[in-house]
Amino acid sequence: MYSVLATVLFATLALAVPTFKLNGCDVSKANMSLPSGQTLLVAPTDTKPRFISIGVGVQNYSCSTTHTYTSIGAVAELFDISCLSPSQFTQATDMFNDIWEKTPKGVTAEQVIKGLSLVGTPSVLGQHYFVTNPITGSGLSPKWDFTSASLKGKSNAFAVAAKIGNVPASSPSNIDWLSLNVTQGDLAKHIFRVETRGGQPPASCNPDSPPISVKYVSQYWLYGGSF
Ligand SMILES: *[C@@H]1O[C@H](CO)[C@@H](O)[C@H](O)[C@H]1NC(C)=O
Ligand SMILES: *[C@@H]1O[C@H](CO)[C@@H](O)[C@H](O)[C@H]1NC(C)=O
Ligand SMILES: *[C@@H]1O[C@H](CO)[C@@H](O)[C@H](O)[C@H]1NC(C)=O
Repeated sequence: MYSVLATVLFATLALAVPTFKLNGCDVSKANMSLPSGQTLLVAPTDTKPRFISIGVGVQNYSCSTTHTYTSIGAVAELFDISCLSPSQFTQATDMFNDIWEKTPKGVTAEQVIKGLSLVGTPSVLGQHYFVTNPITGSGLSPKWDFTSASLKGKSNAFAVAAKIGNVPASSPSNIDWLSLNVTQGDLAKHIFRVETRGGQPPASCNPDSPPISVKYVSQYWLYGGSF
């Protein structure tokens, strides 16, 4: 089944990108496209983009006593898309989202990626997940971790970050776009979650119901860092 998915992605991307080179390009001159008319998300001027990735995964929520879902973290695999052009960033985000939405329940993003790697590309930069806030020791902090994938063996190739700004996506079914400053790790100084697809929970829930995972795809832009 995974190789079928891989073939679909390969065929689709091969049309869009004749040479099908996704990985390992210099992105220091790339410009992130941000919504106009807002000041909460601003591209850093003190650092340059270092990694541009697409995250494919789930946002997890539990039902609170007020009958609404609250975030309990997320987990995603991060693909390198550094060799695409700006218009292809959006196209690729849509394609990954399309494939991920069509992936049968029970197949994880990791398994989809294992299937994709059968065709040699795209490559996985790392993983995004949540950890206990290392500074306060309570609550959750998002982490981007390349130490098990593209920067294996480099123990500081991670970033734990704190949100400094968010703007709603243009569609209410998509999670917010975010700006984060890194508090730990050398992978980046600033991280942006942009071009989000999906990930929003239903508007209400029954407090007895178990936690849910909602599929999402987004771009993550990592600025600065020492790699
Ligand atoms: C990014 O924007 C700058 C300033 O507008 C421009 O000079 C540069 O060519 C852009 N980079 C890319 C990769 O398009
Ligand atoms: C989110 O849910 C998935 C299962 O859908 C699970 O594998 C993962 O560990 C959960 N992560 C968090 C941070 O809750
Ligand atoms: C985030 O980083 C930017 C640039 O280094 C800095 O100007 C800003 O004060 C930081 N924001 C917070 C809330 O720490």
